[in-house]
Amino acid sequence: MDLEVQERTRAHYDRHAPADANSRQGMEERQNGLAFPLKQFHNEVKKQLLYRFARDKPRLLDLACGRGGDLHKWVGAGVRYVKGLDLSPNEIDEARRRYQELLTRKPNLGQRFRADFEPSDILGVRDWMDEPGAPKYDIVSCMFAIHYFFVTEAGLKQFFRNVSLNLNTGGYFVGTCPDGKQVMSAIGDKAEVFKSPALILRKLWQGKPACFGSTFKCAINDTVTQGLDDEGGSEEFLVFWNVLKALAQEVGLTPVAEYNDDMLDSSFLKGDKKHPFKHFNPRFDRSHPSLETASALNVAFVFQKASEPEGISSARIQKRKAEEESLDGAASEQPTKRQKQADQNGHAPSTSQSDPQQGPPPSSAPGRYRGQGSELARLVMLLC
Ligand SMILES: C[S@@+](CC[C@H](N)C(=O)[O-])C[C@H]1O[C@@H](n2cnc3c(N)ncnc32)[C@H](O)[C@@H]1O
Repeated sequence: MDLEVQERTRAHYDRHAPADANSRQGMEERQNGLAFPLKQFHNEVKKQLLYRFARDKPRLLDLACGRGGDLHKWVGAGVRYVKGLDLSPNEIDEARRRYQELLTRKPNLGQRFRADFEPSDILGVRDWMDEPGAPKYDIVSCMFAIHYFFVTEAGLKQFFRNVSLNLNTGGYFVGTCPDGKQVMSAIGDKAEVFKSPALILRKLWQGKPACFGSTFKCAINDTVTQGLDDEGGSEEFLVFWNVLKALAQEVGLTPVAEYNDDMLDSSFLKGDKKHPFKHFNPRFDRSHPSLETASALNVAFVFQKASEPEGISSARIQKRKAEEESLDGAASEQPTKRQKQADQNGHAPSTSQSDPQQGPPPSSAPGRYRGQGSELARLVMLLC
């Protein structure tokens, strides 16, 4: 992971989070905004994906959850527990605030739905796992965010490792993101920038795009990607389906080609019915056509965890052993302090996941894949 890029992404989202400080006021502003039809459609796609693949599941892990915009969808899908992680502490604060607001409005909801939101800057850096003893998740989601992990090969590999480490065998990994090929074709071969009333795309990669780190700026008017100045926008990276698929397969994730759901299928291009990278098919009446162009950059994908690769199961065992050893050691060194922490939390003390001193070392994520310059580079050349 490129930590400087990650820091810029965090700053971008931290700046935007408070813009929506009050849900009701935020809702009114959103409804009057230019991008409202796009947001509605994207929310509908996410909802249908969750209703299809997360229905009544006990535990969902949402990676890059933002400000908890999917809270109502999780409740509607009948998910019972959600853990949401995000790089931006301000987005996490807003997610927690929305969750509390929802519980205040619906006091009985707490009996059938719970959520925890935590800031995390390690998803593309090292292993993330819950406290020892916690069950894995039935579904992992990453909505409109996996493109940030295409900054480096190591970042994306570590991200996928975290998906697999936390997902039960048989469980689904569901997501949405812009498709690199769509972004490239919107900008065009010769141009550096695509400018329209609703969407600005600025090419920042040089020459032929590479599998990783092919940067572009994306600003969709009236959305969280919008820049605060003319050069602004969110710094994003081209996503290539073959690369995504190759790295997912290394951690036991197999693409799901057919959703067998008419409602969901109607949101995507008909030609993608049997293809696992499903392009959005927006139809907005009364809006600028470039808003449709902005929406049509995106795809949905679903993977199912078919197997538990050796590297993944052993990492969980090692993590548990390390936690137990550190607890044993700490218990004999500082019984009073650690016992206090356990008592306050109501459970056994765990090490901080975001503290590099205490977590496990960065993983080498062994596998068949040998990286840029070999198989993946060949795949991208085929794509471009
Ligand atoms: C476009 S928002 C999507 C938020 C949410 N998933 C949704 O669909 O509404 C992208 C989110 O990705 C988060 N993000 C970007 N890079 C990340 C990283 N390395 N680790 C965790 N979150 C990250 C940002 O902070 C931001 O909240």
